[in-house]
Amino acid sequence: MKLNNLKDLLIHELKDIYNAEQQITKALPKMMKATSSDKLKEAFQEHLDVTQQQIERLESVFETLGEKAKGEKCLAMEGIIREAESMISEKADASVMDAALIASAQRVEHYEIAAYGTVCAYAKQLDMKDVLKHLTTTLEEEKKTDAKLTKLAEQAINIKAEK
Ligand SMILES: [Fe+2]
Repeated sequence: MKLNNLKDLLIHELKDIYNAEQQITKALPKMMKATSSDKLKEAFQEHLDVTQQQIERLESVFETLGEKAKGEKCLAMEGIIREAESMISEKADASVMDAALIASAQRVEHYEIAAYGTVCAYAKQLDMKDVLKHLTTTLEEEKKTDAKLTKLAEQAINIKAEK
């Protein structure tokens, strides 16, 4: 499909994010299994719940745009998740594994922050207030998750891994 304008590009980007979110819902349970920290497990579970809401939010954005909710394989997210899986398969002390899981989770978050930041900018430019509202809600959630992971790493996980 030829991309003729910013709206076409917005839809293209949304399809990428939609697929990325779906990949995340499959990866998070694996990360939950790999952690031995209750706090980290809880953070992953919480993000899984949030991700499911974000998928629904994207579906309503597609509806507003008159588009079918359809993903387009996000190769970047596939790569980030593949790296996380390969890290999970490494032999590591439990606390070191937890630190590594946070590193992977933050790569996921930063990709999402970049992606949602972009579609928010497009929606703003296109004056699509409803779409912008939905996407901004998700962008803020991603930022909050990222900050939570940083706090968890700095205040507990990295300290434990240091020993
Ligand atoms: Fe997300």
